[in-house]
Amino acid sequence: MNIKKIAVFTSGGDSPGMNTCLRSIVRCALSYGCEAVGIMRGYEGMIHGEFVPLTARSVSNIMQRGGTILKTARSKSFFTQEGMEQAFGNLKKNGIDGIIGIGGDGTFKGAVEFNKLNKIPFIGIPGTIDNDLSGTDYTIGFDTALNTIIDAVDKLKDTAASHDRIFFVEVMGRDSGCLALYAGIACGAEEILLPEEKTDIDKLVNKLKDSLHRRKTSSIVMVAEGDDGGGAYKIAQEVKKKFDYDIRVTVLGHIQRGGNPSAKDRIMATRFGAVAVEALLNGETNKMTGWNGHEVTLVDLRKAVKQENPLDKNLLRYKEFLSL
Ligand code: F6P
Repeated sequence: MNIKKIAVFTSGGDSPGMNTCLRSIVRCALSYGCEAVGIMRGYEGMIHGEFVPLTARSVSNIMQRGGTILKTARSKSFFTQEGMEQAFGNLKKNGIDGIIGIGGDGTFKGAVEFNKLNKIPFIGIPGTIDNDLSGTDYTIGFDTALNTIIDAVDKLKDTAASHDRIFFVEVMGRDSGCLALYAGIACGAEEILLPEEKTDIDKLVNKLKDSLHRRKTSSIVMVAEGDDGGGAYKIAQEVKKKFDYDIRVTVLGHIQRGGNPSAKDRIMATRFGAVAVEALLNGETNKMTGWNGHEVTLVDLRKAVKQENPLDKNLLRYKEFLSL
């Protein structure tokens, strides 16, 4: 199929670098003589016909800005027969030959279902701070979010050390502990609690008491929001019942999703954007751009949504001795 008009949208949780990626897509598409169209609010805009033409100037001065100028949404109606039919009708009406969607797991699950009903080529780009997709070592926004957490925890450590306190810090990651693990290692957290591992309150209390015996008077416990212990507040409460120490809780929340993309996110977003356009022009469909540590690859979209994304075994091992 001859691709002449490419539509792009962002979907799911926003992540720093989405705008940089959009800029790369639009300018790459234009350089090949294609037209670029933005769909506002992800699948919601596809259903409601919110299509906007994108020129080289539409994406000027956005590469350094967090969030997404196309806005984003988590659409429930897209997952209905009616929603998909409406979306398809609008794509046809606007003469779209190929689609690029930047998002996470939910975005690609939607694309896989949508592609069963129509044959418009689709390429996905991983954009989520969670870094939790199968088939890629990297998702846009992860590095920026990590740096935001590091900055916050470095500050909390000043107070923790000055007051001899234990801080429980909750970071994002509903299903994946990737962000918490990397953040915990990068911040020198004493404990890292992950959805992938069972949280044992007694064991945690003993470890914190042991730290005290080793003359550590302050600690950071990094908690992934999806931890089975029920989040930082609940875990801190349970610990407090068994260990009478000065304990505080900080939930970093959506601050982790905003901010100017880091250098790494800008480069990765630019790479993914260009590869996605070229993939469409080369006749690819139902693929996601992935990073294998060296170069951008194209991964089957069905693999990307499989949620087989084991955590780094070495980092899991290191966390056991780094807090001594
Ligand atoms: O998927 C990205 C993510 O930031 C998760 O880590 C978090 O659980 C979720 O989005 C929060 O979503 P919302 O912005 O809809 O509250």
